[in-house]
Order: sequence, then C-alpha cells, then structure tokens
Amino acid sequence: MAILYDNSKKIFTLQTQDSTYQFCISQFGYLLHLYYGRKMEYGDASGLIHTGDHGFCPCPNEAKDDRTFSLDFLPQEYPSLGNGDYRTPCLAVSYPNGSSACDLRYVSHRIFSGKPALNGLPALYCNEGSCETLEIILQDSSEPIEVHLFYSVFETQNAISRSCSVVNKTRHAVFLDSVLSCCMDFYGDHYDFMTFYGRHAMERSVERRRLTHGKTVVDSVRGASSHQQNPFVILCEPNADEDKGECYGISLLYSGNFAACAEVDQFDQTRFTMGINPNLFRWKLAPGESFQAPETVLSYSPEGLGMLSGQFHTLFRNNLCRGCYKDRRRPVLINNWEATYFDFNEDKLVRIAEEASKAGIELLVMDDGWFGSRNNDCTSLGDWTVNRKKLPNGLDGLCRKINGLGMKLGIWFEPEMVSENSELYRKHGEWCLRIPGRPNQRGRSQFVLDFSRSDVVDYLFNSISEVLHSANIEYVKWDMNRHLTQAWSAGVPAEREGEVYHRYVLGVYNLLERLLKAFPNILFEGCAGGGGRFDAGMLYYTPQIWCSDNTDAIDRLEIQYGTSFAYPACSMGSHVSACPNHQTGRSVPLKTRGIVAMSGAFGFELDLEKLNAGEKEEIASLVKQYKKYYKLIGRGNYYRLTDPHGCVSAWQFASADRKEALVNIVVTRARANAIPPVLKLEGLDEAKSYRIVCDDLEFKDYYKDCSGSALMNAGLRIPNLYGDYPSLQIHLLAEDDQ
Ligand code: GLA
Repeated sequence: MAILYDNSKKIFTLQTQDSTYQFCISQFGYLLHLYYGRKMEYGDASGLIHTGDHGFCPCPNEAKDDRTFSLDFLPQEYPSLGNGDYRTPCLAVSYPNGSSACDLRYVSHRIFSGKPALNGLPALYCNEGSCETLEIILQDSSEPIEVHLFYSVFETQNAISRSCSVVNKTRHAVFLDSVLSCCMDFYGDHYDFMTFYGRHAMERSVERRRLTHGKTVVDSVRGASSHQQNPFVILCEPNADEDKGECYGISLLYSGNFAACAEVDQFDQTRFTMGINPNLFRWKLAPGESFQAPETVLSYSPEGLGMLSGQFHTLFRNNLCRGCYKDRRRPVLINNWEATYFDFNEDKLVRIAEEASKAGIELLVMDDGWFGSRNNDCTSLGDWTVNRKKLPNGLDGLCRKINGLGMKLGIWFEPEMVSENSELYRKHGEWCLRIPGRPNQRGRSQFVLDFSRSDVVDYLFNSISEVLHSANIEYVKWDMNRHLTQAWSAGVPAEREGEVYHRYVLGVYNLLERLLKAFPNILFEGCAGGGGRFDAGMLYYTPQIWCSDNTDAIDRLEIQYGTSFAYPACSMGSHVSACPNHQTGRSVPLKTRGIVAMSGAFGFELDLEKLNAGEKEEIASLVKQYKKYYKLIGRGNYYRLTDPHGCVSAWQFASADRKEALVNIVVTRARANAIPPVLKLEGLDEAKSYRIVCDDLEFKDYYKDCSGSALMNAGLRIPNLYGDYPSLQIHLLAEDDQ
C-alpha cells in the first residue's frame, strides 16, 4: 500500500521507495503538512507541529482564547488567501459580497488504485494500475465551495503527482483569482533554489541561489512556459550535488503562464508553491461549474541531483509521453531550415533527401515556407495550402519522391499564428487576440490566433487534417514563434477576459489531442522559437521538442545540460548543423557536433550537397553510431559527469542492467601544459570488468579494460586532446557480455 490513512491519528502517509510524504487533519479540520523527505518506515511526524503562543498571529474563531493554533505559522497542504496565513496562498476566491477569505476544512477522502486522467489537460498516467490515488475534499466553512485535492503515488520513481479542482456548489458565481496546483511547507530555511532561465536561442541555463527571507519567484506571463524560465525547479540542501544531498524536483505539467515561488517566512520556514500564474488570471466559476488546475509532479531524491533527474527521465518516458513513438527509436531526420531557409523547391528538397538517404537518414522534414506565398516570415501563416510554385507536384508528389528514396516526409506548421498578409486574416481578422480600439502588436511580424475560441480550433483541426490526409506525412513539427500580447478575446464577455490565457492553452491542448487521435502514426515534435515551450505539458502530446534554435554544439552543451535536469535525452530535438554556425559563427569539428547532437532526438540541419565526400562519409558513420548506441541514449540512465562551464564537458549513458555505457567528452578549451582531468564514471557494476572501446589511438593503448569499481571510484583519466573543441566517445561493455 502506497497510501495509508491512520484513522485514530487522522494522518495520511504516502510512501514511495525512498520517500515519505505525510500530512494530517488537524483540530478544526485544517489539512496540516507534517513531513516530506527520506523514507520513514513507521511512525508519524506530528510531533513536529509547533504549538506556541504567538500573540500577534491570528487564530480560527473556534480556538477562542487558545492562541497556539495559527495558520500564520502552521505548515499547510492547500492554503487560501485572507484567512490568517499571510504567506503565498494556493487559492484566492472572490465572493459576490466582495470578500475573499476562503476557509478550507476537511470533509472527506477516498483512496483508490489507478489515477484519473485530467479533462483537457496533460497528466501522468500509471501503467497497469501501478499507482494509488488519494482524493481529499475540502470545503469553505461558510459557503459550499469545494476543493478536491488529488495525490497519486509513483513508488519506484519516488514521485507524487498533485492536482486540484474547485467546485462551486453555491447559488451564485464566484471568481477564482488564484488556483495553484501545489504547496510544500518545510520547517527550515536551509534550501537552495535551482531554476532554469534563458532567452531565445539560449534556453535553460542553470541558476542556483540560497533562499533568503521573502519570496523568490520564477514565472511566465508570456502565454507560453517560455524560453525565459522553465516550469521545473529544484529545492535542495546547500551541499547537494550530483551524488549526494536531499533534493526535491517540482515540474508543472503546463505550457502557459506559470509561477513557482519559494518563500522564507518570519519564522525561518520555507513555503514552495507552483501553478498557473495568478497574474493575468481570473476565472469566473458559475454555480455548478468546476475548475481544474494543472498537475504538478514532485519527486524526492535522498542522493543528489543525478538520482533526481533519473527519476524524472524515467517518469516522463514511461508515464507521460504517449503514442507509437513512445518507446520506439525515432527516425534520424534532416531538416531543411538552416540548409535553405525559405529558398527551396521540390528539386532542392529531393536532392537533399537523396544525399540524406545515402547516409542512412530516415526522415526529411520540410520546414517553414511550403505554404501560401511564404517566401519570408512576414506572410501567409494561417493559409495552410501548398505553394505550387515551390512544390509543383503538391505535397503528394513530393512525398512520393521522398518515399521512393526509402525516406519518410515530415512538415512544419505554426497553427497558433496568423500573418496580417494572409487569406485567413483578411477573412477572419476577429480570430486573433487583440483589444478593440487598440493597435495590435506584432511579434515576428505576426499575430496570435485566439485559441480560446472553439471555432478557431475547429477551423485549424480541419485545415491541418486536410493537409495531413493529402499525402503520406509521418511527422509534424509544431511551432509557435511569438508570445501573447493584448490577450483579449471576442469570444467571451468582459468578466471572463481573465480566463483567456488559460483557455488559450486548453485550445492548444485540445487541437493537439484531436490531431493525435486522428493521426496516431504521425510523430509530433514540439517547438516554440526553439525551446520556448519545452515543458512536461507539451511532452504529453509531443514526445520530442526542438531544444533550441541555437544549433552551435558548444552552446548546446550548456542548453542540453540544463534541459537534462528534468527532461530525458530522447525528448531533446538536437541537430548537426553547418560551420561556421549560423547563430554563433563558431566552427566545431563534425565529430563533436555529431556527439553532441546524438545525445538527443538526433537529426541534421544543413545542406548535404555542400559537403565534400569525406564529410558525407563521416555523417554516414555518425548515423550508424547513433543507431548502434540508440538503446543506451534513448532508454539508458543519463549522468552529468561535469558541468559545462569548465574546460571539459562530459556526460554518460548507462544501461539499466549496468552492462553497457557510453561516455561523451568535449574539450571546450584546450590548455597548454595541462594534466587532463579524471572522470568518475557512473551506473556501472563494481564487480564487472569492462572492455573500453574508443577510436582515439593514444587512449586505446592506455585503457584496454578496467573494472567497474575502478572506473567509478578511481575514475578514468582522459587523454590530452588538442585543437578547437575536440571530442571523444567511449563505449564500455561488460566483459562477460561480449
Ligand atoms: C522557429 C523554429 C525554427 C524554424 C523557424 C521557421 O524559429 O524554432 O526551427 O522552424 O521557426 O520559421
């Protein structure tokens, strides 16, 4: 049993393999948090609840003159605004009389096996009833406003998912000003907060800071989870590193505006909350209606960040990603964007595909520019009809030729957008987000369609379906190249305009879900100006996401490193592109570009016709190498061996049975007269001896085989590598498996 309820003590205990999460129904019916951390096999943590007299802290009415029970300092499961807890609330409700104090008390609970899906929202699922769920109903003490809290336990991943819904059982409408998805209260203030910040073409850099009194918030009000901050954060002990220390990872399964807030209070306690950003959110809840907040996933590691990331990787691969490519090796692709930009036609694409097929590449992705009269980024979004000047034989004609080469065809869409210069905009200007009487803002010369409207979503479903039916298209890249501004919808009354950002995200999910159902064999890759919507919400629909518009292998070391804290390698779209690189002007050896790109959903994005014979051969062998090692990369455990800011960047994959591993090393700064570093490997079997295979000559002579114990404890000395950005890939195979 993963979820236990002790009726005499009124304590709920959620057990995973290595963690315990515990809370209780206190006097007066409040849900008080007791403990989340290293596993307690028995007993309870209710003794940790502080009951001092703090005269200046308010107390519930029933407490009378007993001043020892105050929500001002007690740890809570789902705090609400205006009710004596002055820290960040999860719930803020406005009642018709203008008041906003909602006083949530326990009503009932049930524990059941399995996990319900969330209507219209992404959610983890459990395989074969392998998890248990606890539902708790709370209700405002004065009005029948109910909150349903859901906790599902994923035992082996040390993970707990949380979500909640609010039900209005009154006879009048109320407004929800905030409905966050989770709260975690900790007794101390000794935590580091790790967040993943960035910008277009440089996403998910790691930032780590010690918490101090007050609120530390990372958020987005851009309408997408954004390049700028990611809806995944970590709280950890200050001494935590890859191999040690307690860490808590929190992921919000949501692709729109979010807020993650870590707050140290007056008593040096820490509150963490996460959910839809209350800024730009106000939801009218009519009588009988309910509101579903997105799901968060909490995972706990007693042994450092490496273990934490591993838990998220397995969870997202097995319990979040869906579809026929969930466990299958995704086709190695070539995308024409950096090869041609808008300047291509059928002949050019076929020539690229011919070269690609010789190299073992399996899918040609025709990127932006195949529709309407889109010869630059100022036109035609919304007009999803083939440009016959570029593709005289239509999509079907192109597809037949590509299929004839033994390759699949994929295409690019940007469904959420419309160009001012488009048939769609001329016909349905009212379909974009804009405020009447205010000039509309452009971003990348385009407007955002109002996905909160079902007629807009229906229209796109039909027009995209028509394209997908018209040829044997086996892959779709779903892009989103600007953030929302002036998010006002003609589809809802003024009092519901605060719902538009969330309704927009629901519209995106709705369209994706319908397309996935209608085209179950198509692989969808997410994208938003590169990695501007790289979140667990999107992974539910698109099992891989274009990691960044920055294809420079050296910058990618940092981007993929940051991304790896939550997201598995198989989800990171990652391509070898031309040199000098189009974003940075840097030149990096092809081998290094290959090693970096194959640590993700592997592909190419360059004009193969421009390469010489030697380079083409090298590309063919990179593709071979990737296919050979795919199981390790796509399904193995991932380890960060260094951080990417030093002179050497190294990471490793190891099979779950510890029989095989792949170590990747890139020297980002060669140094004169230096002793090369030692890397302590991970995920091997201490008792086994490994055969080490590497194409580096010096290295080959030095290491022939070595024990797992030596490689993990003493380490592996890498050879001195010279020049600009050299790299090594080392394959290890347990001796008895050869
Ligand atoms: C975005 C994507 C790119 C490419 C262009 C096309 O920037 O991230 O990969 O598809 O759009 O316009």
